[in-house]
Amino acid sequence: MIGLTSPYLWYTTRATGLVALVLFSAVIVLGTFVANRVGGTNVGRFELNELHRSVSMVAIAFLVIHIVTTVVDSFVPTGWLSTLIPMTSSYKRVDIALGAVAFDLILAVWVSSLMKARIANSSWRFIHWFSWMAVGVAIVHGFMTGTDSRSGIGLGVVIACACAVFSSAVWRYVKRPARALGRTALSPLAPEVAHEKPAKSKINDSKRRNRTQR
Ligand code: HEM
Repeated sequence: MIGLTSPYLWYTTRATGLVALVLFSAVIVLGTFVANRVGGTNVGRFELNELHRSVSMVAIAFLVIHIVTTVVDSFVPTGWLSTLIPMTSSYKRVDIALGAVAFDLILAVWVSSLMKARIANSSWRFIHWFSWMAVGVAIVHGFMTGTDSRSGIGLGVVIACACAVFSSAVWRYVKRPARALGRTALSPLAPEVAHEKPAKSKINDSKRRNRTQR
């Protein structure tokens, strides 16, 4: 088999790894904004949710490039299997295994979001919690595996991502809205809320049906 290697593949792996980490951390922060019901007059919840979704798409694109350039570069013996199955890489086995775990978790979150209309809201929410683990594991992977993330600006970026994700987790826990009952701004209404009687029936039946279907 012909081996393909170039320093540019390695530079791309390093750069896209850091960019993907920053973007996934931003996705976590934006997701926490949505879950904690930030948004109102100036920036609406709908816009925040759309931003959360769009940034996650861009992050996945960078992650795919990061993984492809790693595997295509024959200088490091990793292999396609090691991108999904932990501990199958001959190169930096444990460090790459952490990357694979983060990737698996992100895939689960992504696929469940694509199937959101077809799965129970409680299952979608449960799987969505994996995103915290995914980014946490990705931070450790980036620090352990990286060339740039061990010192200087690279290390600063990884620490900033860790701080952003940690503060979001604390904020998500401390400031979680009491009335949210597991709902996010645009997710389907929780069953207990969907079955609540409206105080005054000004909303006609068809409008009410639309609201519960969203
Ligand atoms: C959510 C998933 C992942 C994220 C966010 C991520 C992020 C990162 C980051 C931030 C770095 C440090 C870059 C540097 O400072 O040089 C890195 C390095 C690396 N990652 Fe990932 N990664 C992920 C998954 C994977 C997977 C599945 C693989 C395996 C194919 C992989 C292979 C590598 C390699 C080989 C390096 C070392 C590059 C170097 O030599 O500096 N990563 N990753």
